[in-house]
Amino acid sequence: MKKIIITLDGYSSCGKSTLAKQMARALNYVFIDSGAMYRAITLYFIEHAIDYTNDTAVQEALKHINLEFDYNESTGTSDILLNGRNVENEIREMRISNLVSDVAANQFVREFGVAQQQKMGLQKGIVMDGRDIGTTVFPKAELKIFVTADPAIRVARRYLELSAKNPGITKEEVQANLAMRDEIDSTREFSPLRKADDAVVLDNSHLTREEQLKTALQWVNEKINSEVVL
Ligand code: CDP
Repeated sequence: MKKIIITLDGYSSCGKSTLAKQMARALNYVFIDSGAMYRAITLYFIEHAIDYTNDTAVQEALKHINLEFDYNESTGTSDILLNGRNVENEIREMRISNLVSDVAANQFVREFGVAQQQKMGLQKGIVMDGRDIGTTVFPKAELKIFVTADPAIRVARRYLELSAKNPGITKEEVQANLAMRDEIDSTREFSPLRKADDAVVLDNSHLTREEQLKTALQWVNEKINSEVVL
């Protein structure tokens, strides 16, 4: 069957990665979490005390960053490697969430991330989630989905996910972090978060995982069938 590129964009914690993983599994596609790349860059900047506002320092630091994805048999998805080190868990910590949107707004960080993501799409058969995937990374993707969910539901979902590993975390902290990232992501100068004109909207506030997958797979089928030349 014809392989396509599927992009999933949207605000923080609206379930993009969950849906992207479900779709990749169902279609036997590769899932790429572009946010993990910006999170890993942020971890490197923290560990090496790189000032994200200093473009010269940022450009030099990026020369020393190698990002790869490594398939993890036990989770059935890929972990991110920063210079060969598995940082999949570490990049989900709040210290990263608190800084990642500022780092990701830097022009050189964006150019670095986008170039690597575009290379990953050369083979097609991928589902990539992020903020600017349908607008900047793959403007010609066959299927673009813009995922949304009610803000209160997004906070509740992320709080549940984080509190399992961070017993001290509060709902207010999570809510403030999501609001801050959404604001920075949608107002930044270089590839801000916005719905691509040709994206379809999926509001999953009241959908089960099965329901959201069903809707998305219907769109995939429509796209694949509509592109068959008779
Ligand atoms: O926490 P959540 O899963 O919603 O976010 P993420 O996908 O892990 O992305 C973390 C941050 O990386 C976002 O808040 C953005 O600032 C940045 N990002 C971006 O700028 N462009 C992307 N394509 C993906 C993420």
